[in-house]
Formats: sequence, C-alpha cells, structure tokens
Amino acid sequence: MTNINSSIQLPCGTVLQNRLMKSAMSETLGNDHFAPTPELIRLYERWGSSGIGLLITGNVMIDRHALGEPGNVVIEDERDLDMLKAWAAAAPSGTQIWVQLNHPGKQAPKGLNPRNISPSAVPFHPKMQALFATPEAATEAEIQDIIRRFAQAARICKKAGFHGVQIHGAHGYLVSQFLSPHHNQRTDAWGGSPENRRRFVLEVYRAIRAEVGPAFPVGIKLNSADFQRGGLSEEESMGTIAALAEAGMDLIEVSGGTYEAPVMTGAVPAKASTAAREAYFLEFAEKVRGKTSVPLAVTGGFRSPAGMNAALDSGALDIVGIARLMAIDPDAPRHLLQGKASPASVRPIRTGVGAIDNAGILEISWYALQLRRIGEGRATRPHEGAWMSLAKTLVHGLAGRRSVKRARAAG
Ligand SMILES: Cc1cc2nc3c(=O)[nH]c(=O)nc-3n(C[C@H](O)[C@H](O)[C@H](O)COP(=O)(O)O)c2cc1C
Repeated sequence: MTNINSSIQLPCGTVLQNRLMKSAMSETLGNDHFAPTPELIRLYERWGSSGIGLLITGNVMIDRHALGEPGNVVIEDERDLDMLKAWAAAAPSGTQIWVQLNHPGKQAPKGLNPRNISPSAVPFHPKMQALFATPEAATEAEIQDIIRRFAQAARICKKAGFHGVQIHGAHGYLVSQFLSPHHNQRTDAWGGSPENRRRFVLEVYRAIRAEVGPAFPVGIKLNSADFQRGGLSEEESMGTIAALAEAGMDLIEVSGGTYEAPVMTGAVPAKASTAAREAYFLEFAEKVRGKTSVPLAVTGGFRSPAGMNAALDSGALDIVGIARLMAIDPDAPRHLLQGKASPASVRPIRTGVGAIDNAGILEISWYALQLRRIGEGRATRPHEGAWMSLAKTLVHGLAGRRSVKRARAAG
C-alpha cells in the first residue's frame, strides 16, 4: 500500500525519501538586490528538519525587471552564487530542495516593473484594472530571451547545489498565460491552437533540459484549468500534460486558478464536491492518471494523514503537496509521517469584506507574514487577525517597492 512514507523514483533516476512535498510559497525574503537573505535560509533549515521529502522554493524570478512582487529572489547570473549555495544546503541530506522558476508576464502589480508583457495585450478583468496594468504583447526576441533566461537560471540552480527545478506554469503567470486561450490570442507560431499555445512551455522545458542534462529533476506546476471564461480548459490542460510527460518531465504538480479566479487556496471553491474529499484537484488527477504515467503531485486542501494516504492509495497521484500548513506548522511533516494530524489547522482568513476576502491576496499576505516570522526565528502566530496582517503587508510592501526602485537605479 502506497502512503506518504513510501519513497518514489522519478524518471530522471532521483529518489525522493517520501511522498510529502512542500509546495511553493513566495517568501518575499529576498534582499534589496534580489539575493537570498539569512532569514530565507533559516526558513529552509527549519522546514528541512521536518523530515519532508521535497521542498519547492517560492517563485524565483529570472529577470530583475520582471518581478512578481517586491522581495522576490532573482537568478539571472552568478552574482549571488554563494548565498544560493547556502540556500541549497539548508536541508539535511535526504530532503531535496527544488527552485521554482517564474516569469510573471502581466500578473505583476502596476508600477512594479518598467514594462509588463504577455502573449497578447489582453486587459485584466475591470475589477482588477486598478491593480494590474494592461500588458504589451511580447515580441519574438522577448520570447526567445525569456526561454534563454529560464535555462540559464536552471543551470545556475544546479551549479549552486539545488536538487532540481520546477517551472511555474500555473496560477496565471507567463507560462500559464501562454497556455490560456483567453490571455494568448496570438496568430503566429505561439498561439491559435492548443499545439501552438503549449509550444512556449515545451521550449522552456527543452532549453532547461539541454542545460541541466538528463539526470537532474525538472518538474512543472500546471493548472488543471483556469476557472475563467475562455481560459485553459481541463481537456487542453490534459493535452499539455501528455506532451510534457512525453518530452521527459519528471514531476507534474496540479493546481488551478489565477489572481482573477483564485481557486488555488480555496478562497473561491473550485467545486462544492471537493470539500468532502479534502483536496481541490483530485478529480482532475484521476482523469490525468488514466492517460499518462508521469509522476503527479496534487496541491490544495490536503490537511490530514488519512486524506493524504487515501488519495495516494487510490493511485490518482504520487506525491502530496502542502503549502499553508507548512507556514503555520513548519514541523507538520513530522506529525503526518507518524500518521498524526498537525496540531495547527488551516482556517479561512477573512476580514468580512467580500471584495478583499475573495481576492486571494489576503490569504497570500497573511501566510507570507508567518513565513517571515519563521525566517526570523520566531514562533508562528496562527491567530493573527486579518486586518492586522493587511496593515503589516501594506507597510512592508511600500518599503519593498522603494527598495526595488533603489536597487534598479543602482544597476
Ligand atoms: C503565501 C503563499 C504564497 C504562495 N506562493 C506561491 C508561489 O510562489 N508559487 C506557486 O506555485 N504557488 C504559490 N502558492 C500556492 C501554494 O503553492 C498552494 O498551491 C496553495 O496554497 C494550496 O495549497 P494548500 O491548501 O496546501 O495551502 C502560494 C500560497 C501561499 C499561501
């Protein structure tokens, strides 16, 4: 019987010691020059001591002019290799650390980056336009440059001693924008058909693989669907998963949603029936499993060892991803691997104001504050109020924006 304690071998040959994975959570613990800080490394030391098999880092950007948020770490050359080495070595042997590589495309707060690009110049939903600018369509040269940057960042991750990389292909960022018929309305080789829309992610994968070789784990996080009118459908997502599996991907993590429809944290339920089954994207994983044998991880909603082990035993997935639980209980894997529930419980973070609560950003900022506390060597604060966390995020975000401007001005 497969359970979270079972090891697993990936197609590249790497063996993970168990089936528990910390999914990416953007830590925003980079310094003014986009390098990892001692706090970031301490956070991974803490998580590394939990016995978990795989830690995926929060998204790391591949271009300092294309941040997702202030405080991102950026890897575009080897200037921060020493700190990257320290980060890669933060967990004991047995626990792997993979870097999640990301380009935000259009999904970056207004004014943060000098230019916002996307496959096409499609504006955000009117409700979001105050926060997110309408992007410009990427040129062919920009597309090629971004593919090269993904590959270069992966090469540096390997050199720094990280155990693998994960492409962020989910949640409405650039790779996900290329996959979406809503965001990608190109009529050249990068859009117009499912095959053309998935060309970008396949090129990114191939460029990374060419840099890191066949034995280095390369994974991807993908949306089961965008949950947005005209967005990526389940059927097209399955076609992309099959193509990526065929190309040699080692691990495909299933999530869903975008900032415009934030189902990934359950702020807006993907389907009412999922509540009964703990995880949000299990039904999709079952359908995918019928079509491919690529190792699958599912993230979103998993809380109890019983729910995790039942899902693994069903054969629908191979690895259980957990995110928010790790932000309030960094030792959660120790309990789970012994068949016990974590004493902490993930609860909805609510202000009572619908527009704020449904935006998804409240959850993200509340949990990011907990990550900061762990990194600073302090205890988590699971009962922190929603308004208090918003106020702290605002102060921190404004300071972060000022340092991004200073760092860019300094080159
Ligand atoms: C603070 C925070 C930051 C996140 N940052 C990322 C990220 O950088 N990349 C990513 O793929 N997902 C990110 N996510 C989504 C999580 O990986 C995960 O998909 C989601 O929280 C659902 O899993 P859970 O129910 O176990 O929390 C983030 C979530 C939170 C709470």
